[in-house]
Amino acid sequence: MIPADVVFMPETPAHDSEIDHINEEAFGPGRFARAAYKIREGGPHERQLSFVALRRGEVVASVRLTRIAAGEGRALLLGPLAVRPAHKNLGIGRKLVAVAVEAAKKAGAGAVLLVGDEPYYGPLGFRRIPRGQISMPRPVDLDRILVHELVEGSAAALRGEVRHADMARLPAPQPAVREPQPA
Ligand SMILES: CC(C)(COP(=O)(O)OP(=O)(O)OC[C@H]1O[C@@H](n2cnc3c(N)ncnc32)[C@H](O)[C@@H]1OP(=O)(O)O)[C@@H](O)C(=O)NCCC(=O)NCCS
Repeated sequence: MIPADVVFMPETPAHDSEIDHINEEAFGPGRFARAAYKIREGGPHERQLSFVALRRGEVVASVRLTRIAAGEGRALLLGPLAVRPAHKNLGIGRKLVAVAVEAAKKAGAGAVLLVGDEPYYGPLGFRRIPRGQISMPRPVDLDRILVHELVEGSAAALRGEVRHADMARLPAPQPAVREPQPA
C-alpha cells in the first residue's frame, strides 16, 4: 500500500536535478544508448504530463511523457519510470503510471507507448504492439514495445519509425537541385 506521506504531483523545473539522479541510479550510463532515449533526444518532454512522487519533500520516483509520431499516428511515449530503491514495492510505480495515463487521456492523447516489461505493464492496460508495425531508431526487443490505447484506432495508426513529434514536423530533406547540363 502506498504510504500516506507520499504525494503525487506534476513535475516542475525544480525537480529536474533529483529526477536526473533517480534515472542515473535506476538505469546507469547505459540509458543514453537506449532506443527510447534516442527518441526523447528529439525534443522536450511534456512537463504538465510528467509526474513525481514526493516523500517528506524528497523526489522518490518519476515518470515522464513525451509526444511522439509514427507515420500518421501520434501518441505519448512513457518513460523513464523509476522509483528510488528504498521506496520500491510500495505501489508508487504503478500509481505513477496510472496518473500519467489518466493525464494523457484528459489531454486527448490517442495512445501511450512504452518500451518495458509486459508482466509489469500488462495489468496496467498495456499490450504488445504487433511485430513489424513500428520500429525504433535503435535496436529494441520488439516484444517489449507496449501500447495503451485511449482512443480506438490510435494504436493501429502508429506505423514505421517512432520519432519525437517535433521531428515529424520538420520538412523532409529536399533533393539537391541539379545544375542544367550542357547538351
Ligand atoms: C520497475 C519499477 C518502476 C517498479 O516500481 P515500484 O514502485 O517498485 O513498483 P510497484 O510497487 O508499483 O509494483 C511492485 C510489483 O511489481 C513487480 N515488478 C517490479 N518490476 C517488475 C518487472 N520489471 N517486471 C514484472 N514485475 C515487476 C514487483 O515484483 C512487485 O510485484 P508484487 O506486487 O506482486 O509484489 C522500479 O522497480 C524501478 O524503478 N526499477 C528500475 C527502473 C526500471 O526498470 N524502470 C522501468 C523501465 S521499463
